[in-house]
Amino acid sequence: MRTPIIAGNWKMNLLAEEGKELVKEIWKNIPGLSGVDVVVCPPFVDIPSVASAINEKGMSIELGAQNMHWEESGAYTGEVSPLMLKDLGVKYVIIGHSERRQFFGETDQGVNRKVKSALAHELIPIMCVGESLEEREAGQTEEVITGQVKRGMFELSAEKASNVVIAYEPIWAIGTGKSATAEDAEKVISGIRKTVLELFDKGCSEKVRIQYGGSVTPENIVDFMAMKDIDGSLVGGASLKADSFSEILRRV
Ligand code: 13P
Repeated sequence: MRTPIIAGNWKMNLLAEEGKELVKEIWKNIPGLSGVDVVVCPPFVDIPSVASAINEKGMSIELGAQNMHWEESGAYTGEVSPLMLKDLGVKYVIIGHSERRQFFGETDQGVNRKVKSALAHELIPIMCVGESLEEREAGQTEEVITGQVKRGMFELSAEKASNVVIAYEPIWAIGTGKSATAEDAEKVISGIRKTVLELFDKGCSEKVRIQYGGSVTPENIVDFMAMKDIDGSLVGGASLKADSFSEILRRV
């Protein structure tokens, strides 16, 4: 059995104090919640203050970052290393979000270096893949996603690969209020699991957790979770409000 994982990607939103308040509110709303891994991914500079709230109240909420560099240190102005994230108690790291691919030129090769580095530092990568609207309309979804998964997981051992969380986020569904249908998402996600089976082995394909992301709300989360291969969600907009994020968690 795979434990569902719901991660809130705050993107470039919320000041440190606001982030701290948000986790406190979320925690108040979900007393005794179990059976789901809960992750919040604040901007880097908010992490210490969110971490202090989590530690103070002993919340079972894990911290994730939204990106990292693959090197441990060095002359990489503006970057943050896996060691720095570990030092703050971060457990997960989003790698290759479509916004980073689109606006910051990230490639599958860079994603692969980051995934390998995260795993080497015992951080769990949430590796994002997703097709554009043009690619979907041209019938290229399967080819695009398979390529991203293969290149992103290149040269991993089956053991390491089984720790990766994959987030399928169709670009056209992000922030648009127009989510994929649960059936369409399941079709792509079961395809991703098949690709993982081909690349590694059965144990790995059964263990790897695959999320859907893109306009997920308390209203549609149950439909996604009812699908056999969907193990949770990477939530954007709805993770910025305590009410909607905790309602998603409750329904999961
Ligand atoms: P929305 O939930 O706002 O569509 O964002 C999804 C996303 O990009 C999460 O990483």
